[in-house]
Amino acid sequence: MDKIIEVLPDVKALAQRSLDLVRDKIQASIAQRGFCTLVLAGGSTPKSLYEALAFLDLPWDKIHVFWGDERYVPANHPDSNQQMARRAWLDLVDMPGVNIHPMPTSSPDPAQAAQAYEQQLIEFFQVSAGEFPTFDIILLGMGDDGHTASLFPHTDALQVRTHLITVGNKDAQPRLTFTFELINHARCVIFMVSGANKRSALTQVLAAKGDELTYPARLIQPQGELWWLLDEAAGVDFS
Ligand code: 6PG
Repeated sequence: MDKIIEVLPDVKALAQRSLDLVRDKIQASIAQRGFCTLVLAGGSTPKSLYEALAFLDLPWDKIHVFWGDERYVPANHPDSNQQMARRAWLDLVDMPGVNIHPMPTSSPDPAQAAQAYEQQLIEFFQVSAGEFPTFDIILLGMGDDGHTASLFPHTDALQVRTHLITVGNKDAQPRLTFTFELINHARCVIFMVSGANKRSALTQVLAAKGDELTYPARLIQPQGELWWLLDEAAGVDFS
């Protein structure tokens, strides 16, 4: 794993750098393999990146979009990560509908929905049961408690090693999430972290030693590239 930490002066510069890096990685994936598999982060930080992606002229038919986690709410709920990305970007470009792979949240049973999405991924990548597919790019955020995706501190999701998708929990609210094993099979993982409120957790997550169950983002040690794009407020200790 190559870990690269970049500290940008402010949120605007972080969004621009994220756009440049993601565009370059998308283009490289398409050049090497004919298409790109891109996994989106939820939350608020990536919204400006998605809004900027909408203005690029990329071969949208060669890009497949997935979500790394999702709140267990309807797709039209204000908390939906899918809705945020569609409004900011996907509804504004001519990406074929079959290229957009949202996590299903309509079943009454989140565990069943997790299995369904896992099966979708197995079929898309044509992997055998127990084999982890390799996504080209996985975007991640980090909470001020050191969680990433919906891998929250001291939750059962952190123990799941044999599945691609599992059920996460935030304050007893169910979420669907990539497992850390699936994330770690990616070619390129890009964290985007901004805000002074993330500084303390970031120090714990990026320290040489620490507790993965308390700071789950420490579990993200991909076989490929690992990028940490930080604004000064979050990453002052690393600039
Ligand atoms: C989610 C995200 C979550 C997010 C962090 C950071 O569904 O909320 O996937 O892991 O990336 O909580 O969120 P902000 O970018 O809003 O700080």
